[in-house]
Order: sequence, then C-alpha cells, then structure tokens
Amino acid sequence: MNSNPSSLHEAVAPPADIAEALEASRNRRGRFGMPLYYFPSIGSTNDLAARLAAGGAPEGTTVAAEAQTSGRGRLGRTWFSPQGAGLYVSIVFRPDAGARAAGIDTPPAGPGLPAALTLASGVALAEAVRETTGLRAEIKWPNDLVVERRKLAGILAEASAQGSELDYVILGFGVNVRPVTYPPEVAGRATSIEAELGRPVDRGLLLAKALENLAACREALRGGDIAGVLARWRRLSPGAVGARVEWRTPAGPVTGRTAGLDDDGALLVERDGRIERVIAGEVIWL
Ligand code: BTN
Repeated sequence: MNSNPSSLHEAVAPPADIAEALEASRNRRGRFGMPLYYFPSIGSTNDLAARLAAGGAPEGTTVAAEAQTSGRGRLGRTWFSPQGAGLYVSIVFRPDAGARAAGIDTPPAGPGLPAALTLASGVALAEAVRETTGLRAEIKWPNDLVVERRKLAGILAEASAQGSELDYVILGFGVNVRPVTYPPEVAGRATSIEAELGRPVDRGLLLAKALENLAACREALRGGDIAGVLARWRRLSPGAVGARVEWRTPAGPVTGRTAGLDDDGALLVERDGRIERVIAGEVIWL
C-alpha cells in the first residue's frame, strides 16, 4: 500500500510555532491532533495515516510533515509539497458505531460519512483560514479552497471499508501558506495565503484552528446536524450558484451554470434548461 519509507521512529517534535499553537488550543480540539506524528519529510501523510488507522489508531490521530515526496491530490494528481511552504496534514476519522446504529452518522437522506466529511472539512478549513489570517477563502465544489479562482488548499478524503462496513476515512489537507514557484501545470491556477495577503501568517495558529473546526464539524455531523454544515458550505461558496462551468459526462465534456448544492452533497448544474447533478470529479470554471 505504501511506498513511503517513513515510520514512526522518524517522527520528531513539531517546531515551536506549531507546538505552541497546539498547546494553546488543547481544550478546544477534542481528540484532534492527539496523537500528532510530525515529520521533517514523508512520502504522503495520507499513506502513513492509513497505515496507522489500519492498525487501530483512534479518530483524531494526526500525521503532519514539513514536506512530502509523494504528495497525492484528487483524481490521481500529484500534490506539490515543497519544504516549509505549506501545511501537509492527515487525520484519521472513524464512523461512530452508536451513532451509525441510530442512523445519524450516515443519515439515509443525506451524504454518507465520507462525502459529509469531504464537505465539512472544506468548511472547517475555509473558516480557519478566514479566522486566523483574514483572507476570504471560498470553497469550490467539492472542497477546494480558492481565492479569486486560484487554488489555495486541497482536501483528499480516502475511505476504507471492511466488506460493506466503513472502517475509517483519512482526511488529508494541503494548504499553500508561503509563496513558492509552482510547477508549470498549476502555476497559473495556484496561490498561497502569504502571496495573497502580502505578509507572513502564523501557520501554527492556522493548523490549530483547522483542528478545532474539524472537531466541531465532526461533533455536528455526529449529532445529525448535516443541514447546518451544508448551510455554512453554501455561504462559503458563492460560485456554487450562477457560475459558468464545464464538467465531464460519460458522453464527454459539457457546459452549463452552477445551481447550488444538493442536500446529499451533489453539485447542481443547469444545462439546456434542465438541472443535472455532478456527484464526482471536478468542475472547471469558464
Ligand atoms: C486536491 O487534489 O485538491 C487534494 C490535495 C490533498 C493534499 C494533501 S497534503 C496532505 C495529504 N497527503 C497527501 O498525499 N495528500 C493530502
């Protein structure tokens, strides 16, 4: 499963900016960030988090690194993860047996837990960026963080099941914090928090707030309040209504206009006067 040679004995103490912020937020983030395995460099934080989850690591277990040598993005893409330029973080989530039995962890009428976490993590991260840096990050469906249509952060949710039972979800996020030279294929579409603001930001504070917000979103989902999370997602994603977009169908790429977020997490799009649903893949702004 894992081409990543990093193992737990290579973990180090987090640098002071991160350690101090996490210590200060200790009582506000539940189990999130505990334990935290921190690496100067790693293959992919998602790979190690999955290995830990497969070995029984509890929800909230977190892996973070200063750099990734095989960072993965959605849709089989690479996530550019150079040294010290961003936050590269993965967290273990588990379905809650009691809540699932009561039908509230994966509500029948709403998205299942992986899709709900995908949307909730976009909300948690966008609000963390806004609250700790003042930058008005927006969400592009399903959970990219963008500023003026340039990508600031991405989230990769990877689920693992045992038979038909969801075992765990690894939620990995990468945030571009410091300006760097991006590879040519993403250079025109990527940006960083500091490039947008023109000043340094406290990445420790951002990480701590993201973990706090994720813990709160997880509680909201566990309590069945998917509607509240979706409402926040809609407020943070003005482009989910009325934007001209292109998306792929089995018949090839088509264009239309965004028409909002459905209650199960699908993006609604209007094409030739009819509403269609995009449930996977991505939409491209035109
Ligand atoms: C995307 O394509 O937008 C998702 C990018 C997710 C990147 C993060 S960085 C931390 C974690 N480890 C990975 O290999 N990927 C995710």
